[in-house]
Amino acid sequence: MQQLKEMMISDHFKEDVLDGLFKTPKKLSSKYFYDKTGDRLFQKIMEMPEYYLTKCELDIFKNKTSALANLIIPKNEPFDLIELGAGDASKSTFLLKHLVERNLDFTYMPIDISGNILNVLETNLSQKLPMLKMECLEGEYFEMLKKATSYSKRKKVVLFLGSNIGNMELEEAKDFCRSLKENLSAGDVVLIGFDLKKNPHTILNAYNDQQGITAEFNLNLLARINRELDADFDLKSFEHYQTYDPETGACRSFLVSLKHQQVKIDNELIFFGENELIDMEISQKFSQNNIRELAERSGFKIIGEISDSKNWFVDSAWKII
Ligand code: AVI
Repeated sequence: MQQLKEMMISDHFKEDVLDGLFKTPKKLSSKYFYDKTGDRLFQKIMEMPEYYLTKCELDIFKNKTSALANLIIPKNEPFDLIELGAGDASKSTFLLKHLVERNLDFTYMPIDISGNILNVLETNLSQKLPMLKMECLEGEYFEMLKKATSYSKRKKVVLFLGSNIGNMELEEAKDFCRSLKENLSAGDVVLIGFDLKKNPHTILNAYNDQQGITAEFNLNLLARINRELDADFDLKSFEHYQTYDPETGACRSFLVSLKHQQVKIDNELIFFGENELIDMEISQKFSQNNIRELAERSGFKIIGEISDSKNWFVDSAWKII
């Protein structure tokens, strides 16, 4: 089964990579950044002084825990807490601890594509919070969300943290939120982490770090394609280039081909002109208006928001009406 799943994922990987590189302009999907090396590099990014996002959201979960809990579960009724892309749940653990201490009747359902991460999470949480009821769901977000909602009629609270929503184009984010709504019921709540527009230098620096870790993170996708798809990208012939447009809030990562070159992937040849770009990732930044508009356009009502002490990041709670 595991082998079949890996085969299906790698099949999509090859198809998506080739589709993207035959497009004009060329594009790769940032969801493929996260192989073992990518996970390690992202961990390093989160520890960099320039990468403020994780620290800001941690500030919210650590220091405003009861306000957060009152926002998502004001009436103490039984509920299920679902986390999309839970990872190591470093932020949500503060909330879980608070909810357990308040003796609330809830089950935590982390959803992640990585069974490995879920095993680690389950072991850690059962040690830290032995009273926590937990049901790990390994797989794609919406498939697992359907499974989670089929278990009971209890209220659902869905966490989508870490500005993961920013890795979608605005139209995609709207479709994603609409699908969330379609998979939930009246009274259910979602809590989404948004990185706010701020001084453009602060934003650009977070993705253009001095040590070059973000560059390595981007180039690792080419290395992954070499490893997994029998390709021959010369990593030294590509350079990371980051942009931020303060008007639209789009922060984008590109790789620039430093020369005219051709790359073989499996049996296909891809041609790159000198200075031709590969669009690697969007990390969208939001104004309060952008957030309001997204909630309205996808059929949610904002019921409250909690920001960090610097007002750089916001966790916005939306209800289905
Ligand atoms: C996971 N995601 C929210 C990160 C971001 O900020 O867009 C990924 C990342 N890319 C470069 N640095 C961090």
